[in-house]
Amino acid sequence: MATVFLAGGAGYIGSHTAVALLDAGYDVVVADNYSNSSPEAIRRVERITGKTVQLYEADIRDSARISEIFQENRIDAVIHFAGLKAVGESVQKPLMYYRNNIDTTLTLLETMAKFNVNKVIFSSSATVYGSENPIPYIETMQRGVCSNPYGWTKAMMEQIFEDAAKANPELSVVLLRYFNPIGAHPSGLIGEDPTGIPNNLMPYITQVAVGKRDHLTVFGNDYPTPDGTCRRDYIHVMDLANGHVKATDYVLAHKGVEIVNLGTGTPYSVTEIVETFQRVNGVAVPYEFGPRRFGDIPEFYANADKALALFGWRTEKSLEDMCRDSWNWQKQNPNGYR
Ligand code: NAD
Ligand code: UFG
Repeated sequence: MATVFLAGGAGYIGSHTAVALLDAGYDVVVADNYSNSSPEAIRRVERITGKTVQLYEADIRDSARISEIFQENRIDAVIHFAGLKAVGESVQKPLMYYRNNIDTTLTLLETMAKFNVNKVIFSSSATVYGSENPIPYIETMQRGVCSNPYGWTKAMMEQIFEDAAKANPELSVVLLRYFNPIGAHPSGLIGEDPTGIPNNLMPYITQVAVGKRDHLTVFGNDYPTPDGTCRRDYIHVMDLANGHVKATDYVLAHKGVEIVNLGTGTPYSVTEIVETFQRVNGVAVPYEFGPRRFGDIPEFYANADKALALFGWRTEKSLEDMCRDSWNWQKQNPNGYR
């Protein structure tokens, strides 16, 4: 079976994808600098799957180090998860975001060329559609105007992959545009482990539920949506992980560039998420309405047809599963991996 190199693979999406790839019979090599993760996540991946992961502490920008890893392992395909992802922080520290996210991409592509590895999957984001495109977002739309440096790094990296593929007809690239990943592996052994105050909705909810924060503030209830709160396309991280397995099967067998949305196609509002979380878990999440958060758009969700047509993939988990599994992880690991 083929070997897949996961750059940034100890993180939230990478660790779940490692489980799905190992379960599907792939061998997995992970490199991570643990800037937003812990090697413990990979030890738990090994516990869940009963398989071994080749794990390296490494900065993906470090060419010499990444070359060593490619030398020691016969890599067939690369999945590039390594990146900084906090929208607000990217506004405060744009150069750090451009430096890290663009450099990791360049180093990976250069190292791949050096070792004649031509298969790559990239963690892009729905954020590249910008705010002008109509919803639902479909892959044939032009990339839009991003509202923050994080989003721009994703748009720029997509462009870099497209240009690299234009110049090298052997290259096979899948740009996966994730919508809003939440949930955790059903075992509760791995999950999302943000440092500091969570930026994203679900980790904030679980930290309120477990008593670490006293209430959730819902950012705005005067949007032009059915209940006035923003709507997003939340996707269970295990569905997302299985999408990566399908993308790996695909990328190994094809050449050229494909852009693929990974979402459910169904939006839920902030209020629906909190209410569902409380109902399925029988736990209270006090919340109050506050002002809008700068940069939020009222609603976006995926047209998910292409993933089905190209990969034969569609999501299987419900919003209830997402809420249950998020809570299962948080209550078993109130302090994350620490
Ligand atoms: P994460 O922070 O949990 O994972 C990213 C991993 O990359 C972390 O383990 C971090 O330590 C590592 N990393 C960062 N810079 C590195 C470097 N220079 N060298 C080595 N390792 C490095 O985030 P995630 O939620 O798992 O996201 C994975 C990818 O998916 C990211 O690129 C992110 O931008 C993208 N994405 C995430 C979401 C989301 O909502 N979670 C949505 C769209 C896209
Ligand atoms: N929200 C709250 N209270 C909170 C946190 C979030 O009401 O404490 C709301 C937000 O206002 C938004 C919704 O919950 O309406 C979802 O917010 P998230 O921060 O969880 O997710 P976003 O849709 O804002 O952002 C996500 C990723 C970004 C990515 C973007 C577009 O975190 O990386 O989707 O793909 F850029």
